[in-house]
Amino acid sequence: MSTQGKNGRPDKVTTQTVVDMKQRGEKISMLTAYDFTMAGIVDAAGIDVILVGDSASNVMAGFETTVPMTLDHMIYHTSCVVRGVERALVIADLPFMSYQVTTKEALISAGRMMKEAGAHAIKLEGGKTISSTVRRIVDAGIPVMGHLGLTPQSIYKFGTYKVRAKEEKEAEQLMRDAKRLEEAGVFSIVLEKIPSALAKQVTESVSVPTIGIGAGPHCDGQVLVTHDMLGLNKDFSPRFLRRYADLHSSMSSAVNNYIKDVKSGDFPNEQEQY
Ligand code: KIV
Repeated sequence: MSTQGKNGRPDKVTTQTVVDMKQRGEKISMLTAYDFTMAGIVDAAGIDVILVGDSASNVMAGFETTVPMTLDHMIYHTSCVVRGVERALVIADLPFMSYQVTTKEALISAGRMMKEAGAHAIKLEGGKTISSTVRRIVDAGIPVMGHLGLTPQSIYKFGTYKVRAKEEKEAEQLMRDAKRLEEAGVFSIVLEKIPSALAKQVTESVSVPTIGIGAGPHCDGQVLVTHDMLGLNKDFSPRFLRRYADLHSSMSSAVNNYIKDVKSGDFPNEQEQY
């Protein structure tokens, strides 16, 4: 819940806040947002962290994967979210191929996200292969969140969105990657779609908070795509998703009622005109 700071204004969540929450054993809540209105609702409800995920590619733009997202798209969405938020920590995904080619390009992308969009931190997918880039970005004063397990930007390498690191070899590599990211200076790591026991092991072996999605209850926090947990997307029902509303039905029936009222001449009535 939102805590009150000086002058009755809410205490802003920082990267240090979430690290302290892990140390206190307090769970971290994180949801996605891609626009001003949704960000304002989620923030006012007291969420700790808002992720401007490149899942905007699927949810907002209707692409099948996150691969087509560009840095300019992500800067646009992030700037809309930042304007709607008073308290939450806002983290923005750097999209596919905006940080993998060279460290210099990664630094420029991260800098644009901070300066042009006003993000408070960025998130990158990958472990060992990007750890020196993470170190360089952190050294420049930009907080970085890691992302291991199912990393959707690599969908064409995996070929499937199934659970990752079920086999011992991949699980051991993921453990090493988590340690490398911690050493490189990340303040937190997302663990996506990995076995719960492995997520527990990672969570216990790194000092920074882990945020799970499809990674079981032992992570230091949880993240969901807001459109999924609000039931806006009827067709996406993975096992890890809990729906907290059925907004698809509510919205459909509201739109149906509006159409009916327009067609019948009931809207606008005498009070709804000048
Ligand atoms: O893009 C996104 O929404 C994400 C979360 C699923 C962690 O990366």
